[in-house]
Amino acid sequence: MKEPAKTIRSRIIATGAYAPSKKLTNFDIEKIVDTSDEWIVERTGIKERRTCGTHEAASDLAFEASKIALKNAGLKAKDIDMIIVASVSTDMPFPSTACILQDRLEIKNTPAFDLNAACSGFIYSLSIADSFIRTLTYKRILIVGAEALTKFLDWEDRTTCVLFGDGAGAAILEATDEDRGVLSTKLYADGSLGDFITLEGGGSRNPASKDTLKKKQHFIKMKGNETFKVAVRALENLVIDTLKENNIKPSQLSILIPHQANLRIIQATASRLGLSMDKVMLNLERYGNTSAASIPIALDEAVRTGRVRAGDIVLLEAFGAGLTWASALIKW
Ligand code: UT7
Repeated sequence: MKEPAKTIRSRIIATGAYAPSKKLTNFDIEKIVDTSDEWIVERTGIKERRTCGTHEAASDLAFEASKIALKNAGLKAKDIDMIIVASVSTDMPFPSTACILQDRLEIKNTPAFDLNAACSGFIYSLSIADSFIRTLTYKRILIVGAEALTKFLDWEDRTTCVLFGDGAGAAILEATDEDRGVLSTKLYADGSLGDFITLEGGGSRNPASKDTLKKKQHFIKMKGNETFKVAVRALENLVIDTLKENNIKPSQLSILIPHQANLRIIQATASRLGLSMDKVMLNLERYGNTSAASIPIALDEAVRTGRVRAGDIVLLEAFGAGLTWASALIKW
């Protein structure tokens, strides 16, 4: 009799993360704009963030995180056969940061592309990599969330400049027929709310000009409070639906690794799941919101500190510009 076909899944075999060494605390920002450590901590949970140096760009952070992930996987760069970089603060519009990273890693002839889904970008990349691996199209895929967002901040706008930080996180995916790996991914977008978080200048709508500079269109703008409300509702529904569709009870979850934008959003999501905060990975107090890099940086820290172990059920979720939101459920 024929053996039943085994399910092929993709599995994250290694992670790596890197953040620039330069720290900017809330107290440092108090000296730049009219804000306070107390306001920032109370409203966001953030205490400090890392910032790139003048000559550092997203690909530099991606390169460092990727080298660590490769080392942790025991692989050489040539073992990778696709690269996806999720970023909204790429080195430049083109060539892609993924192509720049490919060159830095000295790999040739692999597909490499950037993906823009803002803070949901890492989970979007994971979902695409998962599809390619499950269909055995590619064997080993490097996905990286890399952001140098502090380069796009208006240091006169206290509603945004206190929120963001720089960093990168990488993961390497491979096929497995074991009972583990990526169980599901769910991706969403609502372009009708695109004006909630924007960077309007420098594209074909508002090409760089004296006027775009004057209007500060090369900086991030956000309708924070409106975004907050949509994020809480969308994420609460997302995590409940993700678990339900996979027949997993919240009590079976080992850890929630959320996008690190705002502690109050994360608490609301955990509370909707009835999850105690000790089952939630938090590091936004040290990194701020690093957009597409936030989940892989947090995931890497969870793996390194033993908070994620073989067999654990891990839930990733994110919400960001687009608007976009996404989840991934993984059996580690
Ligand atoms: O990662 C992508 C997705 N992004 C998010 O998920 C972010 C979602 N939004 C948020 O995290 C929060 O909305 C913020 C942290 C951005 C803002 O918190 P909030 O509780 O929604 O505050 P608010 O925007 O309603 O502002 C409240 C007050 C305002 O003053 P008035 O009008 O009440 O006098 C602001 O001007 O706080 C003021 N404010 C500040 N005060 C001191 C805004 N920013 C600051 C600041 N320091 N940095």
